[in-house]
Amino acid sequence: MCGIVGYIGNKKACPILIAGLSRLEYRGYDSAGISTIEKNDLSIMKDKGRVKNLSNLEGIDNLEGTIGIAHTRWATHGKPCKENSHPHQDNSKTFSIVHNGIIENYNELRTFLTEKGYTFYSETDTEVIPNLIHYYYSKDSQNDDLKFLRAVKNTCADLKGSFAIEAISKLYPNNMIVVRKDSPLVIGTCEDEKYLASDIPAILSYTKDFYLLDDLEFVVLTRNSAKFYNQDLEEITKDTQTIEWNMSSAEKDGFDDFMLKEINEQPTAIRETIGARISLNSKCQFDELSFTKDYLSSINKIYIVACGTAMHAGLSCKNAIEKLCKIPVEVDIASEFRYRSPIIDEKTLCIFISQSGETADTIAALKLSKESGAKTLAISNVIGSSITREADYSIYTHAGPEIAVASTKAYTSQVVLLNILAIYFAEILEVCDENLIINLKQNILELPKKVEEALKCTDIIKDFAKQIYLEKDMFFLGRGIDETVAREGSLKMKEISYIHSESYAAGELKHGPIALIENGITVISILTDENLVKKTISNIQEVITRGAKTLVITNQNIDKTMFDLVINLPKTSSFVSPILSIIPLQLLSYYISKEKGLDVDKPRNLAKSVTVE
Ligand code: G6P
Repeated sequence: MCGIVGYIGNKKACPILIAGLSRLEYRGYDSAGISTIEKNDLSIMKDKGRVKNLSNLEGIDNLEGTIGIAHTRWATHGKPCKENSHPHQDNSKTFSIVHNGIIENYNELRTFLTEKGYTFYSETDTEVIPNLIHYYYSKDSQNDDLKFLRAVKNTCADLKGSFAIEAISKLYPNNMIVVRKDSPLVIGTCEDEKYLASDIPAILSYTKDFYLLDDLEFVVLTRNSAKFYNQDLEEITKDTQTIEWNMSSAEKDGFDDFMLKEINEQPTAIRETIGARISLNSKCQFDELSFTKDYLSSINKIYIVACGTAMHAGLSCKNAIEKLCKIPVEVDIASEFRYRSPIIDEKTLCIFISQSGETADTIAALKLSKESGAKTLAISNVIGSSITREADYSIYTHAGPEIAVASTKAYTSQVVLLNILAIYFAEILEVCDENLIINLKQNILELPKKVEEALKCTDIIKDFAKQIYLEKDMFFLGRGIDETVAREGSLKMKEISYIHSESYAAGELKHGPIALIENGITVISILTDENLVKKTISNIQEVITRGAKTLVITNQNIDKTMFDLVINLPKTSSFVSPILSIIPLQLLSYYISKEKGLDVDKPRNLAKSVTVE
């Protein structure tokens, strides 16, 4: 989704802004632009296409300004083109702004401003913002230091929807005004410089000290100060937070693509996520949580709500929570959950999973649950992200920055963390056989090593990818927990290989989808539950007799002769088996995408962080 960068300091802003935009490319975008203050005038440069197009524009190297704002746009209102790209200016070219989010009432505001004599040059919702700032600025008869800030604040009071805004003005060459609501924006701070970005990795090479903004906090930045104001424009204090991620975790480190790097980082991500949270001799530790036996015993339902891969992580852990805690669990897609009037009250615990912590539907579902009286728990990979600021409790995966659009290490870290959470609840509730808990703990602690083991299938998968990369359709099959892995494997295949794929509970095959099986079609099956092995093998035989090519991912001793390829995985508890079974499937979609010459890290039409509903 749209990305924002900003800089105010003593260096030339343009190269810093372009470098920041390049680091945000993974979010998905279709045009890019920057605005700097040049000798007390505003300069704007923007174009359709990649950040590279922007950096090749004539005259861009001559920009000297030391304050500037920048943007990558992911089209929502109006096609991708230069006119619709950000930054946008007011008619008098006094103010430049960039905006991430959606202004829901922009039609009304556009009509209002048109009646006041303003003209619009783009199809965007954003263009109302600089013109409203100009409108309020011109009407304000007080000529004090806060006049620019007041104009931005009055503008925001008129906006419905979500926004992260950076505003500069040729009248204020030493100021930048910043505000956000339901849209991400962080401020990195050094002594004489301030850096802004939609997310931390974009500016991590400059500073580790960040201000994390709450909704509708207004910020006035100068080179050496950051002043924060509430909605009544009373000054408030804010502390910085130090982010521990290092720069190399946001770089490719010798790998061809971020996705391959992130697949290979899974042993570390899982090790870090386990941390000191479990040990065999003591109870599970979550310093951030303070659940009591009384409260957990009063819970009669747990909802797990998320989108995309994070939702699949939730699905994979439903069983573990139900078996260990004896509480029914429902897993829901955030964009469905919020509109289906779910039954929620104070006896419901709602868990929200989001790698970025900024997914608009997940945040909205969380707000709805809170309003309905439920306790809310957020699981995120990004400290201080919106979802963690809204929730009653937050716990973090420690996967490090995930840059590739297709989620890999975040998924496996989420599955680990949810299993640890299930143990934590179960130990408080004391409703489960202790041996089951000890066995699961043992298996979790062994995971980093077993993931390393599973990654050894890389070369075999690479060869198999060469045989099947031209396929048009694929099927993924599994039963029980393996069916949740089939869904995630199928999603990976669609996302980065653009191959149409379907996932099915293996037993459902003969109720319709088998009609699509014909000679040569690839069917990928996951087979880790020993109680279901025979049943699933029967289903695979049904597709083999109809000519399918078969890949089987398993940790069971099976007769391999009837399949085209079998990948053997280390044995583990069935609760955490998705963490191992998904690895060959992540690698397969990666290598198929490479064989097809596609952009693995930035697949078409997709965004890493979906900040609009
Ligand atoms: C987008 C990404 C997916 C991701 C989903 C949820 O669709 O492309 O990879 O799983 O958003 O993202 P979140 O940050 O909430 O986990």
